[in-house]
Amino acid sequence: MEKVQVDIPGSSYPILIRHGALGDSDWLRTHLSPSLESNQLALISNEIVAPLYSDLLLDALSAYEVDTFILPDGEMHKNISSYEKIMNFLIRKRKNRSCTLIALGGGVVGDLVGFAAATYQRGVPFVQVPTTLLAQVDSSVGGKTGINHSDGKNMVGSFYQPKLVIADSHVLSSLPDRQFAAGLAEVVKYAVIEGESFFSFLETNAASIRSRSPQVLETIIKRCCEIKANIVARDEKEAGLRAVLNFGHTFGHALELLGRYSEWLHGEAISIGMLMAARVSNKELGFPREQEQRLFDLLKEFNLPVAARGETSPSISANELIEAMGMDKKTVEGEMNFVLTKGFGDVLTKQKVGNDRIAEEVQSFL
Ligand code: NAD
Ligand code: GLY
Repeated sequence: MEKVQVDIPGSSYPILIRHGALGDSDWLRTHLSPSLESNQLALISNEIVAPLYSDLLLDALSAYEVDTFILPDGEMHKNISSYEKIMNFLIRKRKNRSCTLIALGGGVVGDLVGFAAATYQRGVPFVQVPTTLLAQVDSSVGGKTGINHSDGKNMVGSFYQPKLVIADSHVLSSLPDRQFAAGLAEVVKYAVIEGESFFSFLETNAASIRSRSPQVLETIIKRCCEIKANIVARDEKEAGLRAVLNFGHTFGHALELLGRYSEWLHGEAISIGMLMAARVSNKELGFPREQEQRLFDLLKEFNLPVAARGETSPSISANELIEAMGMDKKTVEGEMNFVLTKGFGDVLTKQKVGNDRIAEEVQSFL
């Protein structure tokens, strides 16, 4: 087992990483019980993940009073209606303030259940059991919780930390290839943030990562969680530093919006977004061309898209992309703030770049 401690003042908690954790009910019981405040539990999952893994959790928790709620699958259900259904369920099951919510699923379930936990009776404890690579390396850690509004992603939410995160890399074996690759985009993002040693580790081990070797998966999940834990411990509410975790995201969010959230998975849009950010970084900050090429090669090797040419959507113009980025960020006199890099391990926030410069640099990706 690997352990990473997230030391946020007032809410310190462990991330336990273990291949096969969900299949070992004694281990699970031992490690879950210290985080549970009472006998009352609510297990919340979705229609894809629950049939695969909920019985394993329920076996380990047979001594507790557990009620289960199953959501439909998909980003479109990370909304107010699902949130209301969870509230109705908790109220009807008479769950009290010491009830712990357990989120079993990817980032959609985790964000939604985290927000439900943050607000049910002004806050109840919750545990994250992430089942996608993206959720194990990113969304289950750091306490960003929330739901989407019809006018934008994650528009309603809260910073609310879990009591415990259990990441079982074995469950990634049932993840579809496209979803696994999307999680790798966030892993590559961490490598750009951390620097040469993690980046070259990914390059060297690309084949075993693609084949989901348990040892290498545990290593990368641990490394990503350490990087994220270190950042959120210093800046939980994104006053400054935490924004480095958004490298590639301004471009990526705009692509997701233009693709109506159906063309690209989040990680795929971030892959293209990181390449756009790298190109702008090269022009604005002298990000070395050689590192830009390595980033391109690694994303390609992980079967991620490297240009924004969707199969079903019409092509996007640079102006449309800039307009869509304006929905995500404030434009001040034709300039926006970006997260850019001078080189692996040196990511900078609040870099102002003019819209004309952006249009010039992103053209070749469209
Ligand atoms: P997801 O939760 O939709 O999961 C992807 C798909 O995989 C779904 O169909 C899901 O049912 C299925 N699935 C999950 N685990 C599986 C398994 N083990 N085997 C087979 N299928 C499985 O998507 P995601 O990529 O995990 O998360 C995306 C969400 O995360 C977005 O809503 C995004 O906004 C959010 N997010 C949040 C943060 C944060 O810090 N809170 C960070 C990044 C992304
Ligand atoms: N995924 C970005 C963050 O947690 O801040």
